[in-house]
Amino acid sequence: LFAAVELAPRDPILGLNEQFNADPNPNKVNLGVGVYFDENGKLPLLKCVAEAERQMQEAAKPRGYLPIDGIAAYDKAVQGLVFGADHPVLAAGRVATVQAVGGTGGLKVGADFLQTLNPKAKVLISDPSWENHRALFTNAGFAVENYPYYDAEARGIKVQAMLDALSAAAAGTIVVLHACCHNPTGYDLTPAQWDAVVATVKARGLVPFLDMAYQGFGQGIKEDGAVVHQFLDAGLSFFVATSFSKSFSLYGERVGALSVVCENKDETARVLSQLKIAIRTNYSNPPTHGAQVVATVLTTPELRAQWEQELAGMRVRIREMRVALVEQLKAAGVTQDMSFVTRQQGMFSYSGLNQAQMQRLRSEFGVYGVDSGRICVAALNQHNIGGVARAMAAVMAG
Ligand code: LMR
Repeated sequence: LFAAVELAPRDPILGLNEQFNADPNPNKVNLGVGVYFDENGKLPLLKCVAEAERQMQEAAKPRGYLPIDGIAAYDKAVQGLVFGADHPVLAAGRVATVQAVGGTGGLKVGADFLQTLNPKAKVLISDPSWENHRALFTNAGFAVENYPYYDAEARGIKVQAMLDALSAAAAGTIVVLHACCHNPTGYDLTPAQWDAVVATVKARGLVPFLDMAYQGFGQGIKEDGAVVHQFLDAGLSFFVATSFSKSFSLYGERVGALSVVCENKDETARVLSQLKIAIRTNYSNPPTHGAQVVATVLTTPELRAQWEQELAGMRVRIREMRVALVEQLKAAGVTQDMSFVTRQQGMFSYSGLNQAQMQRLRSEFGVYGVDSGRICVAALNQHNIGGVARAMAAVMAG
C-alpha cells in the first residue's frame, strides 16, 4: 500500500526544531521557529494566563463539546480586539467570527470556505511569505502565486511592484496580506502604503485575507490592528485570521480565530453556517482550555491590563535585542550597515544571509535560523547575542 510513498522533506520551520533538539552543541541557539523567549532564554508563562488558569481551576467545569464555532464569549472578545468593541460593524452584525485551532486553523477554515465559493480563484501571497501559506492554500485546492514584496537591495518593500501586481490580478483573486510584523521579512507597509493597497484591492474586486499572527509585537495592539480599520473604512468584505500563540505565549494550546466581514446581517448568518461546515468536516469542534484562558483574560479588566503590560514587555525587549544585535555585529567586525534590523517589526529579521551562510551558521556554530535568512530576534538575549553576532560575522566574512 505504501510502497510508492515518497519521503516528504522536513518542514522548513518546525523541522528545524527536530534538528536543533538532536544537536549536542552546548552553545546551540534556536532562532528558527517564531517563539518568544524571555531574557533568560525561557518560554514565558504569562502572569495573566497563570491567574486565569487558577481562577478556572477553582471553578472547574466538566468538558462537554463546544459549539462548532467555539466559545461565544471568546468569539466576542476576539471581535472586540480585532475590530474595536464599539465599532458599528459589530453592532450591525456584519462579522462572523469562529474559534479556530491556532491562526493556521483560521487560515485553513477560511481557505476551505473560499474553495467552495470560488474554486478557480487564484491566491496571491507575498514574495516571500510565511512558508506555510503556499502549502496551506495549495492543499485547499488553489493555484498559488506571488506578488512582489521584499526588496533585497533597498532593504524594504517593492511597493509599486506590489501594487502593479495587484492591479493586474483578476477580480476574485484572493490576496493574503500580513496585517503587521511581516513574516519572514519584518518589513511592514506604512499606513499611506496600506491605503494604496486597500484602494487597489477595492478597485480590482480582490478578496483580502489578512493574517494577523503578531498583533502587539510591532508598535502596539491598536497600532498593529490599524490596517483592519482601513479595510473597514473602505467598505470591503474581508477575512482576518487571528493567532494568540505568540501574544499569550500559548503556542501549544492552538488558540486562534477567523473573522469574516460581510455586507449585512443576513449574509453574515449564511457565511457563518458555511464556516461551521468547514470546521465540522475538518475537526468537528474546537478545544476548550486555551480559548477559555484568552476569553477570561480579555474580559476581566485587571487581567486584560496585565496582559497588555506583559505583551508590551515582550515588544520592548525584542526592540532592545534588535539594537543590541546591530551593535554586537559591528563589534564582531561586520562593516556593512546592519541598521535595517532596527527598522524591521515583530519577531523576525530577514538578515540578508543566504542559504549557504544559514547552513554554515547551523553546522559550525549551532545557530539555527531558517534557510531563507530569517532569524527570530525574539529568541535573542544578553547571554546568547554575542555568540550569535560572532557566528553571523564569521559566515558573512566568507
Ligand atoms: C513561524 O513562522 O515560525 C511561526 O509562525 C510558527 C509556525 O507555525 O511556523
